[in-house]
Amino acid sequence: MTSPTADSISAYTPLYDEYDYVIDDVEGALPQDLRGTLYRNGPGKLEAGGTPLGHLFDGDGMLSMFAMSDGQVHFRNRYVQTQHYQKSIISEGAPFRALGTMRPGGLLANALRFPANVANTSVIMHAGKLLACWEGGRPTQLDPDNLRTMGEHDFGGELKWLGAFSAHPKWDPETGELFNFGMAMMPVPKLICYRVDRQGRMNRLGSLRLPGPMFNHDVGLTKRYMVFVIPPLVFPLAKFFGAAFGLRNYMDALEYDASMGTTIGLVPRDGGKPLVFHTDPLLHLHLSNAYEDGDDTVVDLLNYHATWEQLNGQLSAIDQLTDTATMPYGGHPTRVRISRAGRITIEESTGLQGEFPSINSQYMSRRNRYTYLTAGLDGSAFPNAIAKVDDDSGTETMYRLPDGHLPHEAVFAARPGGVAEDDGWLLMPVVDGVANTANLSILDARDIEAGPVYTGRLRHHLPLTFHGCYTPRVARPQSARQPVRG
Ligand SMILES: [Fe+2]
Repeated sequence: MTSPTADSISAYTPLYDEYDYVIDDVEGALPQDLRGTLYRNGPGKLEAGGTPLGHLFDGDGMLSMFAMSDGQVHFRNRYVQTQHYQKSIISEGAPFRALGTMRPGGLLANALRFPANVANTSVIMHAGKLLACWEGGRPTQLDPDNLRTMGEHDFGGELKWLGAFSAHPKWDPETGELFNFGMAMMPVPKLICYRVDRQGRMNRLGSLRLPGPMFNHDVGLTKRYMVFVIPPLVFPLAKFFGAAFGLRNYMDALEYDASMGTTIGLVPRDGGKPLVFHTDPLLHLHLSNAYEDGDDTVVDLLNYHATWEQLNGQLSAIDQLTDTATMPYGGHPTRVRISRAGRITIEESTGLQGEFPSINSQYMSRRNRYTYLTAGLDGSAFPNAIAKVDDDSGTETMYRLPDGHLPHEAVFAARPGGVAEDDGWLLMPVVDGVANTANLSILDARDIEAGPVYTGRLRHHLPLTFHGCYTPRVARPQSARQPVRG
């Protein structure tokens, strides 16, 4: 029997069990001054009530936690106890509608039902709260030590009924504020913008009207603006109402209408009137960073040279990754520059293709030199490397994973007392398709080509996660805190 290779990895094999242990199968050493916690979020199981789910966005959110201190890493994972999760483990068939999955029972079972909040997309730590985010609804608060679900968080009632809080809030390291948006389709399609201060108090900044029902995943932040670069991913009215009335799922109702071009919206952080511009059509999910360069606003993003059908096909392929080989992995690093007069230039910066951009979070909203990406080398349909892009020199360095291994998003953790932008580590869970397990790999961000300085092997598989965050706070997984209702 031959060993499995990268061609036969099932990155989304469910992990039903919840673990709690110190990682003891280690190669290399955890850097002594690396003390903090990496949290990850992603779909832990892509079935509900025994029925396979139709889209990666639909799986139940499962948090993983790597608490690092004194040379050791403590792993824990817990499902977010959403209504969807709790019902999905006892129901027959999918208990609720999801973005890309219908309930059994046809039209009547689906009409006028909103997709269930599965809290599976990202996890953030802000104002002392750990929040699992999902772009269609409220975030869910969890205990940062033991990952116990505390309940949906509405920021003291500021996030209204059906108020959404997207999965990519942006943080200003100087002010400690967090900026985010929520998509609203009714009665008028718009992106509602929010500011959360360093104490966790939310206020609404206003909103950006959309030309019609549309999908937008990410936002950038500069010192002056929240920056939206909205690809022409639209819900044509007939399809939108078809989805609302249960004739089709929401993800299949999306269309890419290049004739609309890309809408750029600059929403002033002080709540002033948004500036709106239009430019050539782009297709992207993630922004790497945004900042002001003199009078210009600069946004870096990953632009796909593919159709929406190809990209959505890759996002909804939950079987073995060989089935996703319809297009190479990742988008092209691309810089959008918007002058004060509204002149827009679009420039692709390297020939690399990648996804899940991350930066040193201290550089959020100001110019960064380094961006880290999961990359697909040699036209691979899935990530097989980590790339570090140097914007000053226009060069990139790379660490290619061993065959059969896939990197999750790499999160940057700064070295305490470090000054250089890249003085720190990349924290990166890895799917090990050869041993059908997973590991936490840690790279020195100054020299990623050298490979991991630490590899801690988990005792089990870990399905590919979407997004995570790092905090220098060391979680205490064994703490016996009393339950607190959120
Ligand atoms: Fe995302």
